[in-house]
Amino acid sequence: MALALGVLISGRGSNLMAILDAIQEGKLYAIVKVVVSNKAKVAGLELAKKRGIQTVFLDPKPFAQEDNPREAYDLGVGKILQENGVECVALAGYMRIVTPALIRMFPWKMLNIHPSLLPAFPGLDSQRQALEWGAKVSGCSVHFVTEGVDEGPIISQKSVAINEEDTVETLSARILDQEHELYPQALQLMAQGRLQVEGRIVRILP
Ligand code: GRF
Repeated sequence: MALALGVLISGRGSNLMAILDAIQEGKLYAIVKVVVSNKAKVAGLELAKKRGIQTVFLDPKPFAQEDNPREAYDLGVGKILQENGVECVALAGYMRIVTPALIRMFPWKMLNIHPSLLPAFPGLDSQRQALEWGAKVSGCSVHFVTEGVDEGPIISQKSVAINEEDTVETLSARILDQEHELYPQALQLMAQGRLQVEGRIVRILP
């Protein structure tokens, strides 16, 4: 059975497109059941719609009146994912911190891609952080989503050399190219049931 994916986005959606391309090319045995965005009319939603994928914009604003707005919103997201038969969730440029309530709905079935070699440069603006630190190498990481932001067990990484001439834009572009290969590959390992988590270590089964 193909892995039933839900993808959470907030913007451009280039990783989402890489996932859809990999599925089309037969490199990723999955089906994207639904794409959920916390931002209206972003490019990623439009691109997904053009490919005939079910999309939902879930506006965080109405949830502001709830006692715990972030959790209430996440329960709303979780409901959409469950109603669409999602078994595995891929965060792809999703600019919200996911609460434990949502993580618990998909135990060890929620992945994120981050544009640095974690644990270096977590959080926002990782490419700028790497340049300002003077790092000679950065890259991207796919990891399980846990309660600590960008702290979950690492599934796979790719390195990218940093040149002295690099700007945030040039470095980000080279890292993004690697992201587009890395994320579908990691999801394929999940689809094949080859990821085994032992503490912080993710074992890739043969
Ligand atoms: C990527 O750099 C990803 O690593 C980070 O946000 C960016 C999303 O880009 N989490 P896109 O929306 O997939 O084009």
